[in-house]
Amino acid sequence: MKPVKISCVVGTRPEAIKMAPVILALRSCGWARVRVIATAQHRRLLDQVLGYFGLVPDVDMDLMQPDQSLALLTARLMTALDECFAADPPDLVLAQGDTTTVMVAALAAFYRRIRFGHVEAGLRTGDRAFPFPEEANRVIADYLSEYMFAPTARARDSLRREGLDAGRIYITGNTVIDALFRVRARRVPLPFALAAGRRLILVTAHRRENFGAPLEEIGAALRDLADRFADVEVVYPVHPNPNVTRPARRLLSGHPRIRLIEPLDYPQFVATMEAACLILTDSGGVQEEAPALGKPVLVLRDETERPEAVEAGVVRLVGPHRGAIVTEAARLLTDPAAYAAVARGVSPYGDGRASERITAVLAQAYGAEVPAVA
Ligand code: UD1
Ligand code: UDP
Repeated sequence: MKPVKISCVVGTRPEAIKMAPVILALRSCGWARVRVIATAQHRRLLDQVLGYFGLVPDVDMDLMQPDQSLALLTARLMTALDECFAADPPDLVLAQGDTTTVMVAALAAFYRRIRFGHVEAGLRTGDRAFPFPEEANRVIADYLSEYMFAPTARARDSLRREGLDAGRIYITGNTVIDALFRVRARRVPLPFALAAGRRLILVTAHRRENFGAPLEEIGAALRDLADRFADVEVVYPVHPNPNVTRPARRLLSGHPRIRLIEPLDYPQFVATMEAACLILTDSGGVQEEAPALGKPVLVLRDETERPEAVEAGVVRLVGPHRGAIVTEAARLLTDPAAYAAVARGVSPYGDGRASERITAVLAQAYGAEVPAVA
């Protein structure tokens, strides 16, 4: 058969982490000709991940600008992706998640009448303002999708409630677990020294709706915790968005047990999650990975599109609120029974075989030999 031309579009760190297993799985089968289109909505963070997985973009649009606005990024993405799809039209465009890159890739493919497949379809909070603008991005991407790869049954149900065609929805698990298991097997050392007896709290925070007052609250809570617990060390790999780096430095520099560090490459970050006793985050991916590693997570948001781990009791929503963050973290740090109840390894988001399932669905759709997958 003629090879199926599949363009995999990646723009940011989490997209690269979650698409890498899919790209590698598709490349290992004979029927697909896979191209990696890097929009480079993120530059440094994207390169860190692509480098680790040995992926070299076939097209690199190098679009990131410092402190980019949503509208201008969207305009540049639309122009560049449209030119790319026009120059060498693929049979299928694949992208993961809810970033500006993904929303525009879906729309640019639609305008060129090219099929679009959405990896991590169906995540919803039901509130267009939270997370902003991601909730709208994923609704648009799903609406325009020929193939919706839902990580969980709940995500499938959300798509069905919106009237999307059941025949185009496939429950696959989340590919982040494929990436996590692959990386964890490498067991790299911690990228910094941790004094004996110290307990590690790992923090990440970067969401747009947390800019401003919420980040101030989060910063104050981290100081409170570091002041109150002399055996605790807070490690915070700071996202390079200037709306994050500026307040993080202002609020947290100078504390002897708070370390602001550069973003870690993926294996180092996984090693740090494994060494942590507690993770505070507003990240989507980290909410999925930490439960699989048995690490309790306090989510620095009031809502989540990933309720499965909350319902399993291993992730708690505390919002970007100083009082709630400190109270809940202190409870876990002082009450071994409460800690044991949340530090349980569960993996509601996948079993590490999502990319195989996605490949099998596409093999079937394009008339190639379908590999057996559980
Ligand atoms: C984006 C996504 C968000 C995702 C996050 C993952 C959108 C609207 N937001 O948010 O959904 O959770 O990525 O991290 O798509 N920067 C650098 N180097 C980098 C990356 C970013 O300097 O490698 C700085 C630049 O100044 C850039 C800014 O961060 O302009 C913002 O990047 P952008 O992708 O627009 O937003 P994020 O907050 O990273
Ligand atoms: N991550 C990483 N290095 C870091 C922080 C996070 O490799 O310093 C990984 C993390 O394991 C997860 C992904 O990046 O897989 C999450 O990315 P991010 O928080 O930027 O985006 P989100 O998941 O919120 O969209």
